[in-house]
Amino acid sequence: MIPRFKPTLGIKELIAAFHLLNKDDIENFERVFAGLMHQKYALTFPYGRTGLMLLLETLELKDKEIICPAYTCVVVPHAITFSGNKPVFVDCESHGFNMNLDHVEKAITEKTGAVIVTSLFGCPVNLDRLDEIRNRHPNIYIIQDCAHSFSAQWKDRWIQKEGIAALFGLNISKTLTSIFGGMITTDDEKLFIALKRSRNSYLKKPKWTKGLRRLLYLITVYPTFCGPIYSIVNQMERMHLIDYFVQYYNEHKIDMPSDYLLQMTPLEARVGTENVKRYNTIIKNRRRAADYYFEHLDNKPDFKLPPKIEGATYSHFVVQVSDRDAWLQWALTHNIQLGCLIEYNIPEMEAYGGHSPDEYPKAAFYARKTINLPVWGGAFNHRRVANVIKLMINQPQ
Ligand SMILES: Cc1ncc(COP(=O)(O)O)c(C=O)c1O
Repeated sequence: MIPRFKPTLGIKELIAAFHLLNKDDIENFERVFAGLMHQKYALTFPYGRTGLMLLLETLELKDKEIICPAYTCVVVPHAITFSGNKPVFVDCESHGFNMNLDHVEKAITEKTGAVIVTSLFGCPVNLDRLDEIRNRHPNIYIIQDCAHSFSAQWKDRWIQKEGIAALFGLNISKTLTSIFGGMITTDDEKLFIALKRSRNSYLKKPKWTKGLRRLLYLITVYPTFCGPIYSIVNQMERMHLIDYFVQYYNEHKIDMPSDYLLQMTPLEARVGTENVKRYNTIIKNRRRAADYYFEHLDNKPDFKLPPKIEGATYSHFVVQVSDRDAWLQWALTHNIQLGCLIEYNIPEMEAYGGHSPDEYPKAAFYARKTINLPVWGGAFNHRRVANVIKLMINQPQ
């Protein structure tokens, strides 16, 4: 079976996991990650959301309104809420998945503390438009959510550098991975020192058992994503037998994982340091798969391709379809797993007020009508991509 994503992990990451602990493992990872992102500083966290929560606190934002997309990963407003602030949601732009920056400007009030700008699915946010907002509102912090957009560029400018700090997620579904984990990067020395102090006092040092759990998880990942085994995993997923591993949110609850205050383990940092070395190949392969899709799937009446933006790094290749369930089923009968990554419009969730879909029509539409085609950072495989293209051209019966 062709899985909807496949972590780009090789033997070197596995060997790194077994290395003896070195007291500099975490700092090494932070140093190479900061270098990769052209930023002066980077700090590791157990999850990206923990980093975001502590970042907002370190910026002394409390009881503020934090503007964020209605169409993003739900853990983002969870982190805002846990930091003692209120998420204010903004709908998507008309011809893309990113937040509508005109609406952002309208949502700004005297209570606004920060705007979390997300380059969703690796498509860079329009920095020309963002510059106008920054110039008019210099006291509002801009935080770049780069969980999907590792080093995406807008007209040769790195997205992650266009704000006070940037946030990255590093779980196995992300462009780069340290098994679990998150990173905050910044060029601001004062912020870096304060955030590091806050992280070191707030987060507990993990016991060796967390390292062991992460190691077992890593070892399991390798066979899981191999074709025949993945078919079984997929069956189990559809029967809800592995919800514990794949369900990351509950409609009704604003919560965090039980270990969100336990620091990243040195083992994860070693895996991340090794994985960073694959970065250029990963991005090249993702762009190559996306280019293939663009070339072969253009102008088909049954689905709409994502906007093609120079500088995108394609964490996901998301297309709009009229009948999502039919496509998902159809793909499975051809041994291909299509994904539906963000299948919710956050303000519609009970936990965030149960708003009507009409209030955020674009986000509500994307939540119901998008699927993502497999893109991988691993070696480019013509046959795999050709199979997906064949599937998409022969629409569901
Ligand atoms: C857009 C976006 N932002 C932030 C995050 C937070 O990452 P983490 O899961 O490491 O908390 C994610 C995670 O999936 C994400 O997709």
